[in-house]
Amino acid sequence: MNLSFIGGGAMAEAMIRGVLSQSLAKPEDVYVGEISEERCRYLSDAYRIYASPRNEVAASKGELLVLAVKPQNFQDVAPELRNLLSPNQTVLSIIAGLSMSTLTGELDHAAAIRVMPNTPAQIGEGMTLWLCAPSVSEDTASQAEAILATLGDQIHVDRESYIDMATALSASGPAYVFLFIESLIDAGVHLGMPRPMASRLALQTVLGSARLVQETGTHPAELKNMVTSPGGTTAAALMALEEESFRATVMKAVVAAYRRSIELSEE
Ligand SMILES: NC(=O)c1ccc[n+]([C@@H]2O[C@H](COP(=O)([O-])OP(=O)(O)OC[C@H]3O[C@@H](n4cnc5c(N)ncnc54)[C@H](OP(=O)(O)O)[C@@H]3O)[C@@H](O)[C@H]2O)c1
Repeated sequence: MNLSFIGGGAMAEAMIRGVLSQSLAKPEDVYVGEISEERCRYLSDAYRIYASPRNEVAASKGELLVLAVKPQNFQDVAPELRNLLSPNQTVLSIIAGLSMSTLTGELDHAAAIRVMPNTPAQIGEGMTLWLCAPSVSEDTASQAEAILATLGDQIHVDRESYIDMATALSASGPAYVFLFIESLIDAGVHLGMPRPMASRLALQTVLGSARLVQETGTHPAELKNMVTSPGGTTAAALMALEEESFRATVMKAVVAAYRRSIELSEE
């Protein structure tokens, strides 16, 4: 299968790495259109793929054409792609906030897949939601699924509203988790712990706790209760968090991101 990318940045590279390492495409079947010549040189040297600062070859070669430019650059590439796309191609857009109707309308192309990945995709630990337009064939959807699975976990959804929800939860979510990790580290330093030690403790605590929830399938509230002894240290900490409305604050943050994603998609 020929696989093309318009935009050869961080997310495109994560997909290229995944696809090549799992032999889903051969290097000679991967084409990138990327505006930066330096970046093209890097991609063709590192992965032995075709990369050009002009988009024509990538746009016309890919049976699956991944749109991986920043949202503000979509309007630059759309008119060019509109003239180059043929009916046997499927466009797979990872552009945040770009709705299916804008994507298919601006490109005048019905076969499209809207994808919402997140940053950990760059190390194969991402969470990706994706939606197919009605005209995408089952074969193409299966190929897309195999490619997206190289980025980490993935869910094929049938309602676009889930993509907006995922924007607020899993796509913006890493920023909330980074903030939480940073807070734990700073707390350790505040108590007198060397920063590298506090960092190691905070990271392994977050990683191990997430894995425990995932591997046991136990509800997080139950796991929390198991580490909370009556009158103990964790109970004291949880009281402090409840006093500052920790859970309500996190929920409000996700709702704020969701509202903002709806606003942006309507602009
Ligand atoms: N990174 C994430 O975690 C994440 C998560 C969810 C969704 N996304 C979406 O994924 C998309 C790509 O993100 P990214 O982090 O990979 O961005 P990125 O690293 O900035 O990659 C975009 C690339 O496209 C190039 N480009 C700009 N205009 C172009 C044009 N007209 N033709 C061809 N290439 C062009 C850019 O070159 P210059 O830098 O020289 O402009 C850059 O190398 C975005 O739309 C973003 O919303 C990303």
